Amino acid sequence: MLPEIVQSLDILSYEAKKMHTILERYQKTFAKDREMSDAANHLFPDGVTHDGRYMSPFPVYITRADGSKKWGLEDKQFIDYWAGHGALLLGHNPPEVVEAVTTQMQRGTHYGACHPLEMEWGSLVTQLIPSAERVRFVSSGTEATLMAIRLARTYTGKNKVLKFAGHFHGWHDSVILGAYPPFDMNVPGIPEEVCNTTLLCPPNDIDAVETLLKTDKDIACIILEPTGASFGIVPTNGTFLKQLREVTEAHGVLLIFDEVITGFRVAPGGAQAHYNVTPDMTTLAKILAGGLPGGALAGKAEVLELISMKSERDGLKMPHPGTFNANPLSAAAGIAMLNIVKTGEPHKQAHRAADRLRTELNSIIDDYKLDWVVYGEFSGIRLLIGHGEQDVRASDFDPYTWDYRKLKGNSDPDMQERLRCGLLLNGIDLASNGGMTTAAHTEEDVTETVAAFAQTLEWLKAEKAL
Ligand SMILES: Cc1ncc(COP(=O)(O)O)c(C=O)c1O
Repeated sequence: MLPEIVQSLDILSYEAKKMHTILERYQKTFAKDREMSDAANHLFPDGVTHDGRYMSPFPVYITRADGSKKWGLEDKQFIDYWAGHGALLLGHNPPEVVEAVTTQMQRGTHYGACHPLEMEWGSLVTQLIPSAERVRFVSSGTEATLMAIRLARTYTGKNKVLKFAGHFHGWHDSVILGAYPPFDMNVPGIPEEVCNTTLLCPPNDIDAVETLLKTDKDIACIILEPTGASFGIVPTNGTFLKQLREVTEAHGVLLIFDEVITGFRVAPGGAQAHYNVTPDMTTLAKILAGGLPGGALAGKAEVLELISMKSERDGLKMPHPGTFNANPLSAAAGIAMLNIVKTGEPHKQAHRAADRLRTELNSIIDDYKLDWVVYGEFSGIRLLIGHGEQDVRASDFDPYTWDYRKLKGNSDPDMQERLRCGLLLNGIDLASNGGMTTAAHTEEDVTETVAAFAQTLEWLKAEKAL
C-alpha cells in the first residue's frame, strides 16, 4: 500500500525540493490564521472558546462547512473529522435539518411556553432510547449530567458519585475530577467537601467497584461513558456494563449512562440498545439536537418525577428551570435529525468509513514501523502516537489489554503538533487524539485522508522526526 500512495503523491526528496519543516510551512500557509489568532489572544484566554480547540502554534479559522468538508480563510478546504464535537452524525448542513431550522426560524425561536415540537422531540427520545420513560430537556451535556447526579441524590438520599478515571461527563464539580491525566482529584476551585463526594475508580474494574459499594454506603450513583472514556479511548465492553447493572441493583445505587456522544451515534438507541443493558438514567446531547445546542436527561419515571411539582409535597422536588430548555429551534433540528437516525442507515455509513480508515491508516503505520496506532469502535477513530511499545503492530493492537493511563493522554505532544499541522496542510482536520466519521464521509474522503496521512509521515521522515 505505501509505495503506491507515496508514488501517487509524487514525492521528491526533501533536499531536492528544499522544503521547509512542517511547522515552517504551517506558519507560512496559514499566515492569515496566525494574524486572527494573535488578535483572538487579546479577547479570549489562549485565543479560544473551548479547551479542545486550543492548538499549538495556533488554530485554523473556519468560515463555512458542508457535508464532510469545511473551509477556512482564503477558502482552504479540509475534510472534517471533528463532526461538531460529535454532534453531526450526518455531516454538515443535512438538507432535512437545514429546512426544518429555516422554517422554524420564521415561526419564532423562543415562545416562553410549551409547544408541540417539544412533544414530538420527546416522543422520539422515548421511542429510541430504551431507558427513557420520561425526558427533561436541558441545554448541554454538562447540564444533563449535573441534573442526573442531583436527581440520583434526591432519589436515594445518598451523597456520593462513583465515576471512572478518564471518563468525561462535562466540566461541573462532581465529574471533572479524574477526567484527565494524571487522573487525580486535584482540580483547582473545587472545595474539598465536594471532592470527598466523588469516588474515582479505575475503568473496567468490577472488583474495585464492588469493594467501594460494599465499604461505602453513601453512594447514590455510578456514572460512566458506556463505550469507555472519551468515546472509546479507553474502551469498555458489554460485559462490564452488565456487571455494573447487577451490582448497582444489588446495592440500591442508580446507574447512569452518559450517552452524550454515544446516544444516537453507536446505534439509534445508543450504547444501551447495542449492548442490551438498560440504565436508570441516560444523559443525552449533541446529535439529540441535530447540530444545535441542546441536551436531555431521560430515565425511569419514578426518578424523573422528582422534578414534578407533586414531589413538593414530600419536600423532594428538584428545582429545574432553564431559559433554553427545549427551545423550538433546537427541537426542530433534533426532530429532523432523529427521524433520520431512526432508520439506522447513517450509522452503517459512518461506521464503514471509520472501519476503513482504521485499517488503512494502521497499515501505513506498520509500513513505517511506528509505535503509533489508530483504533476505536463504531464511528470512532482514536489516534495514539508514541506508545513506546516498538514490537506492537498497529494492525494487531488490542486496547482492552492496555492500561488506561497509557491510552489516554500518553501521546508525544511535540509529534502531535507536527502531525496535526502536517495533516491540516494536507487538507485534513483530525484532532491529535483522533476524531469521528459521519454518514457524509465518502470513499473518496477516506482515500484522500489515507493519502494525506502517508504524505505527512513522509514529510516527518524527511525532517527526521520519525
Ligand atoms: C460523554 C460526554 N458527556 C458530557 C459532555 C458534556 O457535554 P457539553 O459539552 O454539551 O456540555 C461531553 C462533551 O463532549 C461528553 O462527551
